[in-house]
Amino acid sequence: MLPRILVVDDDHYTRTLFKRLLGKSAELSLAADGAEARRLFAAGDFNLVLMDQRLPGENGIDLTREFRVQRPKVVTILMTGFADVRDAVAAVREGLFDYLTKPFDDLDALEAVIGKALELDAAYREIDGLRTRLATELCVPEAIGRSAAMERLLDQVRQVAGLDTTVLLEGESGTGKDVVARLLHAWSVRSAKPFLEVNCGGLPESLLESLLFGHEKGAFTGAAQASPGYFERAHGGNLFLDEIADMSPKLQSSLLHVLQSHQFTRIGSTQPRNTDFRLICATNRQLSGEVQAGRFREDLFYRINVVALRVPALRERQGDIILLAAHFLDFFNTKFGKSCGPFTAAAVHLLETSPWPGNVRQLKHCIERAVALHVGGPIDTAHLFAAGESVADTRFVAAPGGETALRYQDARADFERDFFRRLLDAAGGNISEAARLSGIPRQNLYVRIKRWGIVTD
Ligand SMILES: Nc1ncnc2c1ncn2[C@@H]1O[C@H](COP(=O)(O)OP(=O)(O)OP(=O)(O)O)[C@@H](O)[C@H]1O
Ligand SMILES: [Mg+2]
Repeated sequence: MLPRILVVDDDHYTRTLFKRLLGKSAELSLAADGAEARRLFAAGDFNLVLMDQRLPGENGIDLTREFRVQRPKVVTILMTGFADVRDAVAAVREGLFDYLTKPFDDLDALEAVIGKALELDAAYREIDGLRTRLATELCVPEAIGRSAAMERLLDQVRQVAGLDTTVLLEGESGTGKDVVARLLHAWSVRSAKPFLEVNCGGLPESLLESLLFGHEKGAFTGAAQASPGYFERAHGGNLFLDEIADMSPKLQSSLLHVLQSHQFTRIGSTQPRNTDFRLICATNRQLSGEVQAGRFREDLFYRINVVALRVPALRERQGDIILLAAHFLDFFNTKFGKSCGPFTAAAVHLLETSPWPGNVRQLKHCIERAVALHVGGPIDTAHLFAAGESVADTRFVAAPGGETALRYQDARADFERDFFRRLLDAAGGNISEAARLSGIPRQNLYVRIKRWGIVTD
C-alpha cells in the first residue's frame, strides 16, 4: 500500500513539485489553505503531513498542534522560509519530526527526510500493533496516561510490583484500579503464575467463602466434588480482592488468619494447607474511615495497608483525557470495523472540560457509544452526548457527598452480569451446582445466564 501524504502549502509551485516528486510513490493529498487541510486531515489517516509554516491567515505550527491533539502520533515535517527557522527549531523541540527550508535546492536530501519520516510513522504503527497484541494475548493491560499524577502512580507501581508486599489500591469507581492490579501482577516476579480476582462486594458471604477457601467433596449438600478455592489456586501468583471494604466481619477474620499463617483449610476439611500468594486489595471507599466506623477490622487494615496507592480521579489528570479518548477511539474503531474520528476542536474541548464523575469507565462508554452510533468521519459534540444530555447525567449520576453511583437500573444490570459470571465460575460451569449454591431455581438461572450472554462449557 502506498503511504498517504498530506501536503499543505498555499504556493502552487511547491504543490506541483511534490506532485512530480511523490505522485507515483505516495497517495498524495494537496491542500492550499487551513480549511482544506482540516477537511482532508479529518477524512484520511495520513502517514505523513508536510506543512507550510506560513498559510493564508494562519500559522502552520498552530495547525500542526491542532492536528496533534486529534492524532498525537501524526508525523509532521514543517516547511519554512529562512526567516522563520527559529520558530521551526522550537517546533521540532516540541515534537515535530523535522523541518525543511524553502526553496528546496537539494531534492535528494528532501526525499531522504521524507523517507526517514515515513519510517518513523511505520515504527509508531508497529509499536501500537505490538502493544495491542501484547495487551490482548498476554493480558498485560495498557495504562494510558502521561499526566504527572499518572506518571507518579506508574513509578510507584513499578517500584512495588517486584516487592512481595501487600498493596492496597484506593480510588473512585472507574479510575483504573483493576488496570493497576493487573500491572502489579504483570510486572511482578509472579507474572507467570496465576492472577485471580474476586469481587468481595458481589457475592453472598457463603459463596465468597467457598470461592476463597474451596471445599471438600460432601462438605455441604450438593458438594458433589472437591473444589480448590482461590487461596489455593493463586499459589505462587497474585490474588486480587476487589471491594475489600464489603467483606463480612466473619470473612475478614478468616482472611487475617490466612495472611498471618500462610495457611488455610478447605471447607469440610481439617487439613491445613500452605499457600503463598501476594495480596492486592482495592476499595473505592476510604478504608481508614471504615475502620473508624467499626465496619472494618483494624488489625486486618494494618495487615493490608502496607503499601497504599491512590489512583487519581480523571478530573485530577485532565491532560490524560484526550490521550484516553484517542485510545478508546482506535479500540472501538477496530472492534466495530469503523473509521470514526478525529474529534472536532469543539469535541476535544467538551471532553477536556467535562467532570467525568464516572472516571475512565464513563469516558470509555461515551466513546464506545459515539463510535457505535456514528456512520464514520469526524466526531463532534453531538455524537458524544445525545441531545439534552450532559456528562453528569449519562450512565453515572453524582450521589450526595460527591461520590459517584450508577443509576439503579445500570447498577443492577452490572451487578447481575457480574454475579452470574462469578456464580458459574464458582460452580465450575455447572448450572445445577450454581442453582444449589445461589438458591435460584435452575430454570430461572438458565434464563438469566442466557440473558447476560454468559457462556457455560
Ligand atoms: N489508564 C488507563 N488506560 C486505559 N484504560 C483504562 C485506564 N484506566 C481505566 N481504564 C479502563 O477503564 C475501565 C474502568 O477501569 P477499572 O475497571 O480498572 O476501574 P476500577 O477503578 O477498578 O473501578 P471500580 O471501582 O468500579 O471497580 C476499564 O475498562 C479499564 O480498562
Ligand atoms: Mg474494579
